[in-house]
Amino acid sequence: MRPHPDTPSDAGPGLLHVDAGGWGLTWAADGDGRMHQVGLGPDGHLAAAEVDPVWYPDAHPTLGGPDPFRPPALRITHADGTLTTRLRAERVDREPVDHDGTDDPLDEVVTLHTVDDLLPLRVRFRFRTHRASGVLEQWIEVDHDEDGPVILWDYDSLAPALLVGPDARVVQFGGSGWADEWAWTSESLTPGTKVLDSLGGIQPHLQRSPCLLVEPHGPAGEDHGAVLGLSVAWGGNVRFALDVRPRSGQDGRDLRLRAGANPLGAHYVLDPGTTFVTPTVAWTWSDRGRHGVSDRFHRWTRARVLRDPDRTRAVVANNWEATFFDFDEERITGLIRRSADVGAEVFLLDDGWFGTSHPRDDDDAGLGDWDVDRRKLPGGLTALTDAAGDAGIRFGIWVEPEMVNPASELYTEHPDWVIRDRREPREHRNQLALDPLRPEVRDFEVGVVDRTLAAAPATSYVKWDANRPVTDPGTEALATDRRSNAWVDWVHATWSVMERVASAHPDVELMLCASGGGRTDHGTLRWFHEFWTSDNTDPVTRVRMQWACQHFFPASATAAHVTRWGGRPLPFACAVALSGRFGIDLDLRALDDSDLGVLRRAVDCAVRTRPWVQHGTLHRLVSPVDGADRSRAALAFVAPDRSGAVLFAYQLDEPEHPGPVLRLPGLDPDATYRARITDLEHGTDGPEWEGTGSGFAEFLLDWGPTDPTTATIVEVTRR
Ligand code: DGJ
Repeated sequence: MRPHPDTPSDAGPGLLHVDAGGWGLTWAADGDGRMHQVGLGPDGHLAAAEVDPVWYPDAHPTLGGPDPFRPPALRITHADGTLTTRLRAERVDREPVDHDGTDDPLDEVVTLHTVDDLLPLRVRFRFRTHRASGVLEQWIEVDHDEDGPVILWDYDSLAPALLVGPDARVVQFGGSGWADEWAWTSESLTPGTKVLDSLGGIQPHLQRSPCLLVEPHGPAGEDHGAVLGLSVAWGGNVRFALDVRPRSGQDGRDLRLRAGANPLGAHYVLDPGTTFVTPTVAWTWSDRGRHGVSDRFHRWTRARVLRDPDRTRAVVANNWEATFFDFDEERITGLIRRSADVGAEVFLLDDGWFGTSHPRDDDDAGLGDWDVDRRKLPGGLTALTDAAGDAGIRFGIWVEPEMVNPASELYTEHPDWVIRDRREPREHRNQLALDPLRPEVRDFEVGVVDRTLAAAPATSYVKWDANRPVTDPGTEALATDRRSNAWVDWVHATWSVMERVASAHPDVELMLCASGGGRTDHGTLRWFHEFWTSDNTDPVTRVRMQWACQHFFPASATAAHVTRWGGRPLPFACAVALSGRFGIDLDLRALDDSDLGVLRRAVDCAVRTRPWVQHGTLHRLVSPVDGADRSRAALAFVAPDRSGAVLFAYQLDEPEHPGPVLRLPGLDPDATYRARITDLEHGTDGPEWEGTGSGFAEFLLDWGPTDPTTATIVEVTRR
């Protein structure tokens, strides 16, 4: 432990400063040791209480704390039936962060230790900084020595108080479920409590992303206005609650923002001597608009979350949309060769390759039986890895280790392995979920990946899918009075399986998928290289999805494949996939020479531009989700060393107004650059022109009238 240089010398049990890098927070104890939030925001870590801290908001409301009229962030029934919890600060610890040596030497984990003043229950408020990005990770831990178990009813990870303006807004992401992830909704924060939550346990983010933007002083722009970005790093159900109170006679309003795991139906029974750890919420405060939030989240995601962040992601060709379950060895080896021929670097064999007594010819059989279906693939997986090796392309494979079809040998042998209660379990996509609280199930799930990779040792890429939610929660692995713990424990158990797989196969790249983007959270992503953003690959919808998703996740993590969804022109579909981790999911047999030419040019473009797209800085230029004209979108990625950039301009629908002038910020102002339009359709040399970085920051291109579902790509390189 060491003192933080910014920590005032009077820091003691009663004062907590957290410098998150450009912003932070300060809590101070009143005379009774209750913590109050006395500072939050750009100067929040420097704040000192100007009056007695008792006049400031409760730092983390509990039932029984100073503010009885706010929903508590922590609500516990104690072993003796006491309903209240009243915490007193004991001390603050500071430890340096040691994370692969990439952190600022001043990064630290700050822990505020508190204790209930009646009962032997302790709560630790924990903060981990990443000052290089300005993203702060926050969570709490609870343990106790009471005479029996306590029940946690509410357990938010954080609950800051903010004074917001009358035009304060919140932006949430998510739509009607499958294929509708990341729908953008921006709305006013009006008085009352707004709860934004998700359910279903395994793929909750299909309904609503665990990420949120709050604009406390009114609508923000890309480079102006205050914006808070929050991400609950949790692979289970999530809840945001925004409790807004008007201030009589004043413009401002009080906001109490709570975020964490969704406790609905998930109260946690905590035994003495055990520790409950809430999910981590990662959050940041930008006073330079939404770009500030994205830039920070991208840096933090690369530094703290993503596996092998510096490894450039390959061009993946998948067979799912091309074949679904209908394939054989000849068709797959043909696709492998064609994929290599257009320049793809990984061929990913999707669902349908397994099942012997219950062949996986549709989604109604075979899940759980991970032996290769020799009817379809007589040479086994090695015939495919050999074909890939011959074609000079890597091989990847799809698995869904957590699931079982009732029509399977696994279910026949182990009907008791599934998540269910005493009712007949409901099927969803004809399948049931295995119960990861059973150790033998966890071993089985790890074994699914192990044996698949053993059957095809040259495999270097795995897509991990999960295609149903929990609908009938129940588990024999927990005592009858502990069953509601399962919602939390399932996440930890599943993460332990993923951790084992990732550490057993360090060189295998993993894609995270759950019926599309059902698991896009910064907690689960720690064991993966990227995620499947959505099954919806209609490029018009995808532009808006990627726009929203890339507020929190770098493009290297957002897999985007060219498909025929929506029947859009191929050059446009390619251009949209190029602003994510580019891939292909097309029946390559069905493409004529002209389409194959488009695809080859798109792959070449992906290879040229991916150092900028995957590792560079994202600049959003024209928004398809808010603003005057939502018929178009433009965004650019600038190389970390500013040696190059790529700009994508998408015309989605009939334009409502003439196209704006496009500028390209972020280049070296004094350097000279050459810009060139990339024509995916014809491959002819596009127009070229030169300018300085400062010149291009003012004007790169006049975006004239363009037809719907067309794209303009400008590649810019330093001279
Ligand atoms: C859902 C995924 O999102 C799809 O990409 C595909 O892998 C199917 N599952 C396969 O069942």
